[in-house]
Amino acid sequence: HVNLKGRDLLELDDYTTEEIQYLLDLAVELKRKQKNGEVYQPLKGKTIGLIFEKSSTRTRVSFEVGAFQLGAHALFLSKNDIQLGRGEIISDTAQVLSRYLDGIMIRTFGHHNVVDLAEYASVPVINGLSDLAHPCQVLADFQTIYEQKGALKGLKLAYIGDGNNMAHSLMIGGAKLGVHVSIASPEGYEPDPEVVKQSREIAKQTGAEIVVTRSPQEAVKDADAIYTDVWASMGFEEEQKIREAAFKNYQVDEELVKGAKSDYLFMHCLPAHRGEEVSAGVIDGKNSVIFDQAENRLHAQKALMAALMG
Ligand code: CP
Ligand code: NVA
Repeated sequence: HVNLKGRDLLELDDYTTEEIQYLLDLAVELKRKQKNGEVYQPLKGKTIGLIFEKSSTRTRVSFEVGAFQLGAHALFLSKNDIQLGRGEIISDTAQVLSRYLDGIMIRTFGHHNVVDLAEYASVPVINGLSDLAHPCQVLADFQTIYEQKGALKGLKLAYIGDGNNMAHSLMIGGAKLGVHVSIASPEGYEPDPEVVKQSREIAKQTGAEIVVTRSPQEAVKDADAIYTDVWASMGFEEEQKIREAAFKNYQVDEELVKGAKSDYLFMHCLPAHRGEEVSAGVIDGKNSVIFDQAENRLHAQKALMAALMG
C-alpha cells in the first residue's frame, strides 16, 4: 500500500520508515530481475533529465543505465551547457523542464537549489547530491548492509571523518531504519547540529542511537559497518592541505578497525583517496564492500525512478 508516485526525494526525512523499506525491497527485487535477464520496463516512453553542476562517475552512469533498463530515456544536462549556467533562474528552468520531462535529478552545491527546483517543477525531483545530503547513495548503502547482514535494525554503523553530506544522510537514514550511527569528526568538521537534532528526533520512533564524538576508537567500537568519505568534498578542494592536517588522526586503517566486530563491513561512497581517509589495506581488504555499494546505486535508483515516475 506504499505509493510514492509523483513524490520528490530531497533527503530521506521526506519518507517514512515503511516507504524507505519499500524502496529497499524493490531495489533487491529489481536487482534479482536484472541478474536473471528479465526485462522490466515500467517507464517505457518516459524521460528523466540529469542536471550536473559537479563531476560524477557513479551517479551519472547509474541513472543513465537505470533509466534505459526501465525503458526510459535519460538526458545528461551539464549545468554549463544549459542556460542555468548563464543565469537562467531555477524556477523558469524547473517549469520549462517539467513540460518535457517525467522526472529531474539534480547534483548541485547549495541544497536550496534542490528545494527550489522541487518547488517549481511539477514532476518528481531527485537529489543526486547537494552539500547537505546524498540520499541516493544512502539507499544503496542500506541495501548493501541489508544484503550482507540480513537485517538493519539494531546494527551499528560508525562514520569516521568529515561531517558532510554523507554523514548527514547516513544519520537520517540510520535513524529512520533503526540503525545506530556514531559519527567521529575532528573539531570544526562536525555534522550540522540541526541534522543531528533532527536525526535524534526521528530515532525516538525506531530506537536508533545517534552519537557524535571526537574519538574514532569510540565510534568504531563493536561496529557492524565502518564508513568513511573524502576529507575534502567537491567545492572544498582548495582546503585540501588544511584538511589533511585536521583529519590526520581520522584515517580508517588496520589498527582502528580492530575495535569493530570481526565481520565488520568497510564502506565508502567513492571516489576514495588511499592513504588519506582510508589505508589501502582496509579499502582493498576482505571486509570491503565498496563495489557492491557502487553497483547498488543502479538498483536502488531504478527502484526510486520506478516508484516516483511509474
Ligand atoms: N558516490 C558518488 O556519488 O559517486 P559519483 O560522484 O561518481 O557520482
Ligand atoms: N562528500 C563527497 C561525496 C561524493 C560522492 C562530496 O560531496 O564530494
